[in-house]
Amino acid sequence: MKKPTDTYKLYNGVEIPCIGFGTWQTPDGEVAVSSVRCAIEVGYRHIDTAQVYGNEESVGRGIRESGVSREELFITTKLWNTNHTYDRTMSTFEESMKKLGLDYLDLFLIHWPNPAGFRDRWQSANAESWKAMEELYKAGRIRAIGISNFRPHHIDELLKTAEIAPMVNQIRLCPGDTQDAVVDYCREHDMLLEAYSPLGVGRVFDVPEVQAMAVKYGRSIAQVCIRWSLQRGYLPLPKSVTPSRMAENLKVFDFELDPQDVQMIADLKGCVGFAADPDQITF
Ligand SMILES: NC(=O)c1ccc[n+]([C@@H]2O[C@H](COP(=O)([O-])OP(=O)(O)OC[C@H]3O[C@@H](n4cnc5c(N)ncnc54)[C@H](OP(=O)(O)O)[C@@H]3O)[C@@H](O)[C@H]2O)c1
Repeated sequence: MKKPTDTYKLYNGVEIPCIGFGTWQTPDGEVAVSSVRCAIEVGYRHIDTAQVYGNEESVGRGIRESGVSREELFITTKLWNTNHTYDRTMSTFEESMKKLGLDYLDLFLIHWPNPAGFRDRWQSANAESWKAMEELYKAGRIRAIGISNFRPHHIDELLKTAEIAPMVNQIRLCPGDTQDAVVDYCREHDMLLEAYSPLGVGRVFDVPEVQAMAVKYGRSIAQVCIRWSLQRGYLPLPKSVTPSRMAENLKVFDFELDPQDVQMIADLKGCVGFAADPDQITF
């Protein structure tokens, strides 16, 4: 990878820009519009949103205001936890498309495998949603379909009824939280790993070992983390509403971390906490 528009290739051949721009907790309205527009202006070509972020409409406006053509962009949204039925997957997909102002989507993900509202039947709920997503994929409405926060037992269950295997699993991957079992499983199944919260939702800035690493390489803490994510083979999704940080977070292609430092950052177990257990979430 040499620049942010370089791509990973999914198993179906679709290319996905190697850094994505996160929008969780980016307030709907002018902040989301200007953040997305500015992110595209500074060079991001991959935007990550979700139904539950409540900002799809503003993200769509930011995309349009950027003036960059649709084919140059890669847009992801995610099915929310209350929508795990065939009909709700179909209808809320259309709602998302309308809000985003798009006629096709690049990537649609099931956000969580085991929502509180479907705990007694998460397996069939995921199977239903997946069937709808497969149909949308086959109809050309979505270029790739995937999952988020799924662990191996959730994927095994999904694969029992899936015709098309997920192309992506988006999970929390950041210093000290490397979810090795999930990563190994996804790699064996040819699923790209997208790394959410690559900066530990901002908590990594307080970690002394990562601070020292930034000094060693003469880079910012954020740049060290994003570079680390890429060198681990993940696709990082840093979020910022601050234009200077958006640009800073893309300048990660002109230095390299030594392998022992990559391992050292991985080994900072729990330095910014661990991913939530998807079978215990309360939403
Ligand atoms: N699938 C899922 O369940 C899931 C869960 C969580 C996140 N995600 C996705 O992953 C994206 C990223 O994760 P995240 O939002 O949790 O957090 P993150 O990207 O790890 O961290 C974002 C925080 O870091 C700050 N920041 C960014 N760049 C910085 C820099 N260069 N210097 C100093 N501070 C900086 C941001 O501040 P400012 O914004 O104020 O600049 C913000 O407070 C999300 O936005 C979302 O798209 C997905």
